Amino acid sequence: MPSREGPPPAKLSAPHATSQRLLDPSGRADYNGAMSETQPASRETIFSGIQPSGELHLGNYLGAIRNWVALQSSYRCFFCIVDYHAITQPFEPAELGRRVREMASDLIACGIDAEKCTLFVQSAVREHTELAWALSSVASHGELGRMTQFKEKAAKNPDNINAGIFTYPVLQAADILLYRATKVPVGEDQRQHLELAREIVRKWNARFGETFREPEALYSSTPKILGLDGQAKMSKSLGNTISLREDDAAVWNKLRTAATDPARVRRTDAGDPDKCNVFTLHKFFTGAERQADVRQGCTTAGIGCIDCKKILLEGIKADLERIRTRRAELLSKPEAIDEILVEGARQARDVAAETMAVVRDRLGIERIPGRAP
Ligand code: TRP
Repeated sequence: MPSREGPPPAKLSAPHATSQRLLDPSGRADYNGAMSETQPASRETIFSGIQPSGELHLGNYLGAIRNWVALQSSYRCFFCIVDYHAITQPFEPAELGRRVREMASDLIACGIDAEKCTLFVQSAVREHTELAWALSSVASHGELGRMTQFKEKAAKNPDNINAGIFTYPVLQAADILLYRATKVPVGEDQRQHLELAREIVRKWNARFGETFREPEALYSSTPKILGLDGQAKMSKSLGNTISLREDDAAVWNKLRTAATDPARVRRTDAGDPDKCNVFTLHKFFTGAERQADVRQGCTTAGIGCIDCKKILLEGIKADLERIRTRRAELLSKPEAIDEILVEGARQARDVAAETMAVVRDRLGIERIPGRAP
């Protein structure tokens, strides 16, 4: 049986320790348990988060989640549903629990395996907000104001420029640092937030002594998945997605009208697959030989866009069917999802509490009178 918790992450120096030793996230320095054969060879820690948007779409799946599924076998992985990030946008409190559960069931249906990684909900581990506050004292106001995502959100919603969307990247840094993660699989759109997390680490370490290691972004080699409009990244807020929960007929309806190479206006025009978002999708769903046929057919106008899309549909259908079957199994015992999240939070809390003990020590509040024992 593989160990449910995987290898423990790095030990921290004990609270009250005077040593300013860098926390070793690989755990190699002072991990004193033997590596069992079933444990992954690399014990580097990975952290990534996803907002509980309700349901996953093809862009999330191809761009991020498939990558998480691959990583969970070789790293110590923490995957987090970040509900405290989600509340910075308009939302309905009565729906938040359902959104979290649906995201968890989609992730598990896609292959996130709680036997191999820790899957949990951010708000279930109080240390996230506690560390975020501590870090906010070294985060630069100017840098936060320069974040593209902050500026975009502020411009889109001028009536709701709350402090949460401003300090969003600080909470994100706390997420990562609580688990002493060194690798963070994210999309290009998170580059600035990761850079900011690294700057927070440098400033914190300079001010309070070596505590954290700078986390590195792990950008996947996956080509960017545009929305069905072919204009922008696939994203729920733009309404240009195919959800993993859609049935085959709905998928086809969307695919049929999806944008292709804009220069291919008539059936008789030759197309350029490298300028076609539908062809990008073929790279994920269609075998190499068939893909070569599609490329050849497109560039010679041998096949039309509808023919090309029908071939794509076959591949998408097979994948979605597999995910759907897994989800149906999960839904037959809904308490299993809650159990996974409860166990995930327990595992996460253990590590988070260790980190916070050191952080409090560095801040000098570990020995403050009146602290809860
Ligand atoms: N901001 C990320 C996104 O929207 C989600 C996220 C929150 C995250 N905390 C994180 C990603 C920590 C990586 C690491 O995609």
